Amino acid sequence: MTVKIAPSILNADFGHLAEAVQRAEKGGADWIHVDVMDGAFVPNITLGPMVVRAIRQATKLPLDVHLMIDDPRRYLEVFREAGADGMTIHLEADRHPHRTLSEIRRLGARAGLALNPGTPVELAQDLVDEMDMLLVMSVNPGFGGQPFIDTTYRKVRQASQLVCGRCDVEVDGGVKLTHAPLLKASGATVVVAGSFVYLEGEGPEANIAALRRALLT
Ligand code: DX5
Ligand code: ZN
Repeated sequence: MTVKIAPSILNADFGHLAEAVQRAEKGGADWIHVDVMDGAFVPNITLGPMVVRAIRQATKLPLDVHLMIDDPRRYLEVFREAGADGMTIHLEADRHPHRTLSEIRRLGARAGLALNPGTPVELAQDLVDEMDMLLVMSVNPGFGGQPFIDTTYRKVRQASQLVCGRCDVEVDGGVKLTHAPLLKASGATVVVAGSFVYLEGEGPEANIAALRRALLT
């Protein structure tokens, strides 16, 4: 099974965002991971639907929009209209996740549910049929460049057993080359990488190619 690669633009050069996105596409990325933060659910503010709309113009790749915002149901329509192909909400940020995930699907997007490092996988068990992806956070959300939390591997195995092939399992935060083989072996089907892709080594094209090779092992 091929694990999808979703570069996060959070650590890309926002002064040349379209170019950064096109370099990821050229490098063979499967999705573009777009981190939306509201300064309330997480201690950082990043971007809104207008930037998603600009990114939509720059690439044909699916936009994997990670909504790190309180009460995300308020903004589903506007992000969908801006071009989001997938919208992932946080279980911790929504009082009615079953309804919100259904609403994402009603809007024609893939529905994702994200769990913070402190949130047990079991809390998602009654939502598996409403989602197209379960996102296991490997850092506490809010910033790129944080260290990968090693207990994530066990959590990805639990998530993979829970969904049992019915939806994707995405891992997001602190992912580097060294994590890739064990994340794949643990059952991850999508990996997000931000600072590894945009801040390290030879640049996004080469870094994505290296991550692709590491996921083939
Ligand atoms: C963190 C975001 C992640 C992060 C990924 O809150 O959800 O997508 O930016 O960037 P790295 O790979 O640098 O942790
Ligand atoms: Zn993210």
